[in-house]
Amino acid sequence: MPVVAVVGALWGDEGKGHIVDYLSRTAEIVIRVQGGDNAGHTVVNEYGTFRLHLVPAGVFHPGTICLIGAGTVVNPDTLLQELSELEAAGVDTGRVWISDRAHLVFPYHRQRDELEERGRGDRPLGTTRRGIGPAYSDKAARIGLRAGDLLHRDWLHRRLRQAYAAIAARIAALGGEPPSLEELMDRCEGWRERLKDRIIDTIPLLQEALRRDAHILLEGQLGAMRDLDWGIYPYVTSSNTLVGYAAVGAGIPPQAIREVIGVVKAFATAVGEGPLVTEVHGELAERLRRGGPPEGWEFGATTGRPRRCGWPDAVALRHAAWLNGFTALAVTKLDVLDGLEEIPLCVGYRLPSGEVLTHVPDTPILEQVSPVYERLPGWTGPTATARRWEDLPEAARAYLRRLAEIAGAPVRYVSVGPGRDQILEVDSAEAKPGAASL
Ligand code: IMP
Repeated sequence: MPVVAVVGALWGDEGKGHIVDYLSRTAEIVIRVQGGDNAGHTVVNEYGTFRLHLVPAGVFHPGTICLIGAGTVVNPDTLLQELSELEAAGVDTGRVWISDRAHLVFPYHRQRDELEERGRGDRPLGTTRRGIGPAYSDKAARIGLRAGDLLHRDWLHRRLRQAYAAIAARIAALGGEPPSLEELMDRCEGWRERLKDRIIDTIPLLQEALRRDAHILLEGQLGAMRDLDWGIYPYVTSSNTLVGYAAVGAGIPPQAIREVIGVVKAFATAVGEGPLVTEVHGELAERLRRGGPPEGWEFGATTGRPRRCGWPDAVALRHAAWLNGFTALAVTKLDVLDGLEEIPLCVGYRLPSGEVLTHVPDTPILEQVSPVYERLPGWTGPTATARRWEDLPEAARAYLRRLAEIAGAPVRYVSVGPGRDQILEVDSAEAKPGAASL
């Protein structure tokens, strides 16, 4: 079985948790490769409805090993809380491990995120305020602490003492009250007590698994438009959401990844700031936001913020397809489009000069464009009860074929609702792309 990476194609919240939960039935190992508890992967299954922030969505399958990879940043407090919630619902968490190389998110990272956002005044980035940016910036500045440091008390204290002046100065410069060094040491002690048995070097485990050709799933967070390099900088997260980083974040060779599944929501949503070219407002936005069953409504899984909604954006999808080299697509929330007379699909970005771009430009240019739509026929539905490709209305299939054509990759999964049984596996030749015509 190949290593399969599941990454978001758009602004995040595409439904990766739903797809990973489904795909992990047959996976031996699931690895979260980047991001932190800014993620909110919604999973609905027989245990209940969960918003996973750090634990890989494979946790619901008995026997599946779940790794929180080296590329992530881990807030031990929220992780411990998430683990106890899962345990309270009867989920076995004994197979959840943390890479010793994963960085730790401290309360002072959250404090900094909050203060930095406030300092941006009326031009915030719209972060989740979970301390993700500050934790990754400390990692790059080499003053971060890692999960493995918790296992070596002398080393940890030395590192904390070395980093402390910079940590405290940053908070103080922002007008905040820095924690004391002793407070930080005590906190680490508490984390060590509760997490020490879960912190491992993942390399031997993965080497052994790859030698056996074990089925491994890599789970990304957010989507291409929030990638640190190729997203809508600065309105991005502080890690790379593209598959190129998944090998680094998991600790495996890049060529081990044979399949890249791009998860694409059937329409556009974004939480946080930055250009969203196809954004709609008012009633139309509410129609998209509250389409389908309430557990899938478009409110941030981590922050509860209403998500911005818009028409599907083929230009953004093509950008993601180029950068990720998708081998297949998983299209989610198709049911929300049921009942629309037509589906406006954005196929170009018009500049004020009239020129039309078919690629995603740099942010200062992106802020000026307006969408150029191709109008596809809608369908009456309902699609929520479809279980096979053939059950979908012809217009819905035509829409999916168009997405496949744009991405240059077949549609392999279609989700028509939050339930596990609402994911259709598509093997029809019809869902494979012809020549890209965008
Ligand atoms: P940060 O990752 O909290 O620093 O936020 C950076 C940007 O990514 C902001 O626009 C956030 O709203 C967005 N973001 C972060 N995590 C998620 C998520 O799980 N879903 C959707 N957007 C997110």
